[in-house]
Amino acid sequence: MRSTGRSLLWTACLLSSFLKYGSVKVSVRDPTLEVVQGDSVKLPCSFYTMGPLSRLNIIWTLVPLSDPGAPSQVIVYDHGQVIENPALTGRVGFVGAPWSADIVLNNTRVSDSGTYRCVVNNPPEPGDPGIGELSLDVLVPPSLPVCQWEGDMDLGGTVTMSCTVEEGVPVPEILWEKVEPNSISLPPDMEGDSKSTVCIANISAQNAGLYRCSVMNALGTQNCYINLSVYSPPAPSSGILQGALLTLSMALVLLALLALVLWIHRSGRDRKCREECTPTFLRRSFV
Ligand SMILES: *[C@@H]1O[C@H](CO)[C@@H](O)[C@H](O)[C@H]1NC(C)=O
Ligand SMILES: *[C@@H]1O[C@H](CO)[C@@H](O)[C@H](O)[C@H]1NC(C)=O
Ligand SMILES: *[C@@H]1O[C@H](CO)[C@@H](O)[C@H](O)[C@H]1NC(C)=O
Repeated sequence: MRSTGRSLLWTACLLSSFLKYGSVKVSVRDPTLEVVQGDSVKLPCSFYTMGPLSRLNIIWTLVPLSDPGAPSQVIVYDHGQVIENPALTGRVGFVGAPWSADIVLNNTRVSDSGTYRCVVNNPPEPGDPGIGELSLDVLVPPSLPVCQWEGDMDLGGTVTMSCTVEEGVPVPEILWEKVEPNSISLPPDMEGDSKSTVCIANISAQNAGLYRCSVMNALGTQNCYINLSVYSPPAPSSGILQGALLTLSMALVLLALLALVLWIHRSGRDRKCREECTPTFLRRSFV
């Protein structure tokens, strides 16, 4: 009897303390989420409350990773009404309200990355609102990199090859490799996060070949290539050949001149002869 009274008292005490400090309890099942750009993601936020849900108020906010100084409201549930951020209209919605504060975000973009908070109030339940927090990372596979080269591909020249990648979250790693005729990895020189260059000075024939730039992150790898041909200056033998050709053509010209002079000389003699011989010829033909 006495023990029952004590336990009753104990229960009442517990209950009153619960009611006194009673407030909405919020829990987030998964506080760090990752999603591939374009996919949908469910941001979980469940709550526990004692009171009826007629005056339930849920506010989701975002502190964007790209601009932490500009937090924004994502979506609000208030007295059964839903108000979306106009910038997210058609992409965000509650799933299961009012029993759950979960939201779904469709067609995700990189700008959706950041820290989300769900704040749940259920007046007249006293106490602070329940707050849940989670971080969302929108991942992007690397885009096709662009390989470019500039410089002088002649023997002894200097060539700079660059590889630039526009997109990718996490920031893609950039690697340069020579893949043909034999595989060698090259020390790259990063210029910021998205560009890597390789400089080859005093080019020799061994530098000719196929070079590959690979950009990679957790979601994939993309490559671009540069086929480096090394041009040799004209070999001495070809110089000799050119000289020989020149001499030959000069000799031909001389020969032609000589032939011309001879011909002029002979035709002059012929004319003289014809002048002398014509009467005889005419006489002969017409008689
Ligand atoms: C998100 O996409 C799902 C599946 O396509 C769809 O059922 C839901 O209505 C979409 N939500 C919003 C807010 O557009
Ligand atoms: C360039 O390479 C050639 C052959 O590999 C070498 O003889 C020469 O000294 C090098 N020149 C410079 C400036 O490094
Ligand atoms: C690279 O260029 C060389 C010479 O122009 C050519 O023989 C070779 O096939 C090319 N390789 C590739 C992979 O394009």
